[in-house]
This record gives sequence, structure tokens and C-alpha cells, in this order.
Amino acid sequence: MVLCLEILIRGNIEGSKLASNKEGIAILVDVLRASTTIPIAMQKGIKKFYVAKEVEDARLTQKELETMLMGERGCLKLSGFDYGNSPTEIFNETSFAKEVAAFTSSTGAKRIVDAIGSKYLIIGSIVNAAAVVKKCIELTKNNPLTVVIVPTFTHGPITDNTITEDQIGALLIAREFNKVGMKLELKTQNEIKLLEEHMKNLSIEEILLATDHGQKLIDLGFAKDIEFCSRLNFTSKVPISENNVYELSNKKKIVTFY
Ligand code: MLT
Repeated sequence: MVLCLEILIRGNIEGSKLASNKEGIAILVDVLRASTTIPIAMQKGIKKFYVAKEVEDARLTQKELETMLMGERGCLKLSGFDYGNSPTEIFNETSFAKEVAAFTSSTGAKRIVDAIGSKYLIIGSIVNAAAVVKKCIELTKNNPLTVVIVPTFTHGPITDNTITEDQIGALLIAREFNKVGMKLELKTQNEIKLLEEHMKNLSIEEILLATDHGQKLIDLGFAKDIEFCSRLNFTSKVPISENNVYELSNKKKIVTFY
């Protein structure tokens, strides 16, 4: 029996803060591409991720915790980093120098750190939507909790505003909750209906390609990543943190995911 108290979709920094205040489960969704890259990297053998808000904090994590460096600014790999934020690049890698990585990204990583205080932080995306829901069911079996799905950058409900990819990712995760009998807010049900209408005519990849961020990634030569990020339930990897927070020597907090 599923015992999540309530399932909410609340975006942007306010969503992360709400999740933190509710002390429940925060599902952080940055479809293009941070929340796709991290589960894929874990599937490929990286065992632990330290997520940092700022580039300098990721670099300090590398020094203090002897990690690899992964992430982006402006969607591009940073100087001295081992990898950027491309799930395709990571998926095609055959071996990694280390099993531990420090990660930072322009938006997703920041909203993850903003959700510190949640009982559990989970990195969710289209690629692991069903697995994320399965994990939440396990976590709430003997322990009812609020679930806040946080599209890390969104213009709000797709019924009112331009479709944004993180809102779509959040809805595809909510849809998986619905499939196992969990009740959703009426506005979320309406958004899912609209998304399903779109999905009759367009593939998820086509929907993502039409977003602003999708267009930016195409311009930068990352079109393959959009196809990758659209693979519904491609992996069962669910990066999770039991509010595991590490304080760096500069007093900044980073979040550890296993
Ligand atoms: C972000 O966190 O803003 C994104 O993951 C950016 C990207 O596509 O690399």
C-alpha cells in the first residue's frame, strides 16, 4: 500500500524550499540535462556524486574528496573538468578514472542544494520516471511523507504556459504515481491529460526538441542528448541522498548522492 501523504509539483527555487520545509521527499527534475546525466553516469559505474552549486565548490570538492569533475556552465564543459553534462558522452564512455564525481550545473545543481533539509532528495528524470516512483513507494511504506516533484526551471503548468521540459519531466513522473494508484492534484491531472493529447501526435523527443533549452542544445551540437533525455524509463538507477550533506572547508554545503 502506498502511503505518500500528498504529491505536489512545485517548480523553481520555491519548489526546492517547499520540499525542504515539508521534510519529505524532494524529486529534483532537470530533464535537459543534469537529472538525466547523473542517473546515466551511475548506471555506467559512478558510485557517488557530490552536487555543488558553484564551480569553485565543485573544484574544492575535487581537491578535498579526490573526485572526478563533471558539469557545465552555458551547457559547455568547464576547463579542467573530466566531463561535461552530456548523457550521451557519459553513456558512451567505457571506463572512468574514479568512481566518485563532483558535479555542478547552471540550474539543476543549484535547486538540488536548495532542497537540503528534505528527508530524501532524489534525482528524477524521464529516463528513470518509473524507478523513481518505485523508490518512493519503498521509502513511504512504513513512513508517510509528502512528495514534492520540483521542475528545476519551469514557466508553470503546461495548461497556462509554454511547455518547458522540466515541467514535462515532472508530469511524466507524476503520471507514473498515478499508474500505481496515487492521487494527484486536479491541476496536475489536467496537465497530464493535455500532455497525453500532445503525445498522441508528437514523440517525447519532438516535444523536447521544441523547447527553448532543446533549441539551445541543438545550436550547440547536442541534439543527440535530446533524444537520449527523451527515453522514458530507460534506466532503473535512482540517485538518492538521505539528506547527506558535506560541508567544504569554505563552509559551502554539497549534497552526496548514492
Ligand atoms: C542546467 O543545470 O542548467 C542544465 O543541466 C544545463 C545543461 O543542459 O547542461
